[in-house]
Amino acid sequence: MSKLMQTIWPDPQDDRIVWIIDQRALPHELVHEALRTAEDAARAIREMHVRGAPLIGATAAWGLYLAMRQYPQEEAFGSYLQRMRDLLYHTRPTAVDLENALAQATQKILAAAPDQRVATARRAAEQFAAESAAQCKAIGEYGLPLLKAIYAKKAPGEPIQILTHCNAGRLACIDYGTATAPIYLAHERGLPVHVWVDETRPRNQGARLTAYELAQAGVPHTVITDNLGGHLMQHGLVDIVFVGTDRTTRQGDVANKIGTYLKALAAADNGVPFYVGLPTSTIDWTIRDGLTEIPIEERGGEEVTHIAGWSDGQSRTVQLTPDASPGLNYGFDVTPARLVTGLITERGVCAASEAGLLGLFPERG
Ligand code: MRU
Repeated sequence: MSKLMQTIWPDPQDDRIVWIIDQRALPHELVHEALRTAEDAARAIREMHVRGAPLIGATAAWGLYLAMRQYPQEEAFGSYLQRMRDLLYHTRPTAVDLENALAQATQKILAAAPDQRVATARRAAEQFAAESAAQCKAIGEYGLPLLKAIYAKKAPGEPIQILTHCNAGRLACIDYGTATAPIYLAHERGLPVHVWVDETRPRNQGARLTAYELAQAGVPHTVITDNLGGHLMQHGLVDIVFVGTDRTTRQGDVANKIGTYLKALAAADNGVPFYVGLPTSTIDWTIRDGLTEIPIEERGGEEVTHIAGWSDGQSRTVQLTPDASPGLNYGFDVTPARLVTGLITERGVCAASEAGLLGLFPERG
């Protein structure tokens, strides 16, 4: 995957700049955007130039680095750091990576000598990104045996049919992706796979981003409407569901892109295994009950009433609904642990339960 492109990286020549891909233009244009200030980073997260839990976290960490470069000496450092942390934090509420990345970086910056704050913030951002990529790679290694076990029961050459929702791929992360990591590894190692890609209304991260990166990697896939998955499962056309998560609770409830819960229900009804890939940065150890304790982002109704696409070499947005019809747009839903077959983490696969998670992360007990 690394040969394709990075999702966030510091300029190799100019240390005032951090680069991102403005994902709003994909799959039609590959636009690189320079972040020069913490405000740029906050806007990029809020307006979804970047999105996906680990990448949101990494962008916030790089935003703190840019903030450290701009420290106005006349303001008390503690209040400046808090203000910059809050600016980056109050961008998107659901992905806990944002909070975790900012907490890690803030702690390191506070412990650094004043003349080391910029370098420390840079190292913290680099470390968050590097660890996240390594964790995603490990998720791939631990998820791969699940695919191999399915393949072993198939007729030779018949592809493993995987359904995924939203974009939990490398574009949502630093590399490999969460849900996609086992798929990429299987493909690289010669296992035949085919991915059903939910379009993922209203922002269409599946149709625009997952399809784009699977196509780039040469992984066979088909984009489907969000409503098709249940029908495919009823007809034996889905072997396994892999999704990501933006916040996972101690008891294994997962918040992911709106519509994930409906896929979990359909999977349970049809006996299709439903797995969630997650690096540690997406676990919120402070909460148990996802339904009441996870903050669910509500975005503007115009994302529902209007749709963006590409026509005549230009990005265009058109209205779908009558002028008088409002849209309601919750970005995420919670899938209760009882509907999750297993969690794939960088330490292995476990049951979606507190006992399961603590088996892999005993230090959190
Ligand atoms: O609104 P988005 O595009 O940030 O939502 C992304 C998802 O829901 C992903 O599935 C999630 O971040 C988990 S995997 C990286």
